[in-house]
Amino acid sequence: MQEGGSDSTVDAVVDVIAETAPEIRQGLVGRRGTVDEENPSGDEQVEADVWADGLLEDRLSSIDGVGQYASEERPDIVDCGEGVAVAVDPLDGSSNLKSNNAMGTIFGVYDAELPARGEDLVAAGYVLYGPVTTMLVARDGAVHEYELSGDERGVIERDVTVPDDAVVYGFGGRVPDWPDDFAAYVDEVEDELKLRYGGAMIADVNQVVTYGGIFAYPALESAPNGKLRLQFEGIPIGYVVETAGGASSDGSQSLLSVEPTELHQRVPVHVGSEEYIDRLESALE
Ligand code: AHG
Ligand code: MN
Ligand code: MN
Ligand code: MN
Repeated sequence: MQEGGSDSTVDAVVDVIAETAPEIRQGLVGRRGTVDEENPSGDEQVEADVWADGLLEDRLSSIDGVGQYASEERPDIVDCGEGVAVAVDPLDGSSNLKSNNAMGTIFGVYDAELPARGEDLVAAGYVLYGPVTTMLVARDGAVHEYELSGDERGVIERDVTVPDDAVVYGFGGRVPDWPDDFAAYVDEVEDELKLRYGGAMIADVNQVVTYGGIFAYPALESAPNGKLRLQFEGIPIGYVVETAGGASSDGSQSLLSVEPTELHQRVPVHVGSEEYIDRLESALE
């Protein structure tokens, strides 16, 4: 794509998400109940999932230079003209709404038609609805962190990097459902790091990016491709962590090298400090 075109379009996508995030946070109030619907991955939908998806689709699909919008919450891609494709997880960790724990919004901007690969990303990032609403944006080889409040966006870190010294770990799924080789890897890691697992990938990944360590939602005996979605979770988060100097893996290769075959496919996700990803891939060989 012509450089100027994608740059100004990426700016517009990031600006729209940054401006919409405080509205999403405010709109969670009163939308915490489940609706009687499932999303394309078979997840039970929370009212806020559907509402946030509608808001983001409305705002992002009307940006000049955005040609496709897709989300975890809707079966099909929305064609909206010529240009980049934006794939979002409108609310990541929405099951945390009931218990009022942290959650996030994930986005990826692909310079290709969806389903698209990590190599097609021109930017990716996430919003974290924690005590403070923050946003991480990975583009042009760097990760910036912002604090969002209303229409203000203050830069608080221009070069986020995953610390080499690892401190925390968090692994999804149930222990009896972990394959033996992953369980053996966990036995090593739990003697070295502190457990931090909150049930929203974005909040758990943000701890790994901040303190160093590893997050995984691995392949399970009951679900060989794990739980997380490649297009909306695995690739964007893999891009953020790798741009921040960490590593990602589906168990044998970078998440950015996984070839998408269908929009809502799942993938085992492991992201964090390079040492722990290397050791993981050796353990799963
Ligand atoms: P989402 O709310 O977008 O469906 O994502 C939920 C995912 C992810 O955020 C988290 O890591 C994982 O589900 C937690 O799964 P468990 O509840 O099985 O731990
Ligand atoms: Mn879901
Ligand atoms: Mn999610
Ligand atoms: Mn979601």
